[in-house]
Amino acid sequence: MKFSQNYPLKNLNTFAINTKAKYYLPISNVDELMELTANEVFLNNKYFILGGGSNVLFCSDFDGLVIHMDNKGIQIVDQNDSYVYIKSDAGVIWDDFVAFCVENGFGGVENLSLIPGTVGASPVQNIGAYGSELKDVFYEAGIFNLKTKKIGVYTHEMCRFGYRKSIFKNELKNIAVVLNVTFRLKTEPVLNLSYKELERRVKEIINPSVKDVRDTVIAIRTEKLPDPSITPNAGSFFKNPVIEKNTFDEILMIHPSLKTFPADEGKVKLAAGQLIELCGWKSKQDGKVAVHPNQALVIINKGNASGNEIVEFSKEIQDSVFKKFGVILEPEVNII
Ligand code: EPU
Repeated sequence: MKFSQNYPLKNLNTFAINTKAKYYLPISNVDELMELTANEVFLNNKYFILGGGSNVLFCSDFDGLVIHMDNKGIQIVDQNDSYVYIKSDAGVIWDDFVAFCVENGFGGVENLSLIPGTVGASPVQNIGAYGSELKDVFYEAGIFNLKTKKIGVYTHEMCRFGYRKSIFKNELKNIAVVLNVTFRLKTEPVLNLSYKELERRVKEIINPSVKDVRDTVIAIRTEKLPDPSITPNAGSFFKNPVIEKNTFDEILMIHPSLKTFPADEGKVKLAAGQLIELCGWKSKQDGKVAVHPNQALVIINKGNASGNEIVEFSKEIQDSVFKKFGVILEPEVNII
């Protein structure tokens, strides 16, 4: 097998952290994965499965093997009057997959336009934006289990999707490699305009299509979120915290302006961006790290920051949010 050594990861993580992997191996099919599990580099080193690198923060050089799925096919596997089943390989860029669906007039992923990353990473954290989540369109995933060395199929139920989580982020972390994902999309799309700003803009269009929704989502994202190829970042650095309703009622008495979103029974989801903004962090910079001026949930690398500098900065944000609101912010980004 052709391992690269001391491989630079700067172009493989959207935070653009200048770091290296001891070993690096792109994988394009399951036979190569099978072969890998018998290789001594794999057996003698820790490893990490890297997707689009849009949700990771490397704090030091990775003293092990970085495995990168590089398979890139998209295929319509079944279709009936209502649904089309599309199988995409893990290495496909997520937004290329969305563009393919939208060009064909299939509905369900248009609200997830422009999310950085790969298809293989999409079920791992159940990506979501503008009123849609991956779980709404996920049908099944083909995986390779690095422990049992077997291929398997994970159905929707088996994946145990939740807000930015799934079995792949928990029990199967670093065990299951996602090979492909099959999505079930609508052949007669029903637009999801539950996100108010999206509804407002799309309503101005006569007979809006999935393409209009995609274009509008791209416009909103471009206004609010920094383009990682220009301003390195990993999207939302923290998850929106979900807290007990009773606790929320107490916080609300002191901070009546807090916004909330639906969550499980007896719980309330808060807007982490708002909490961070109310602590005065918007646009704040410390050394080479800053909070994005248009969206306080996004931390940006202003030029060659190290992973540790970003972590230290993020801890200061966590501390100040905890001091002001008594709310713990959990990173959404995978800190390595
Ligand atoms: N808000 C502020 N100040 C800010 C940012 C947000 O007050 O600096 C308020 C907004 O006014 C709004 C609320 O917070 O009322 C929510 O903001 P927004 O709709 O921008 O979304 P978000 O909750 O901050 C989540 C996702 C994003 C996704 C957007 C849009 C998480 C952790 N983040 O952010 O996903 O694009 O919703 O649906 O759930 C990502 O995961 O990397 C990501 C960017």
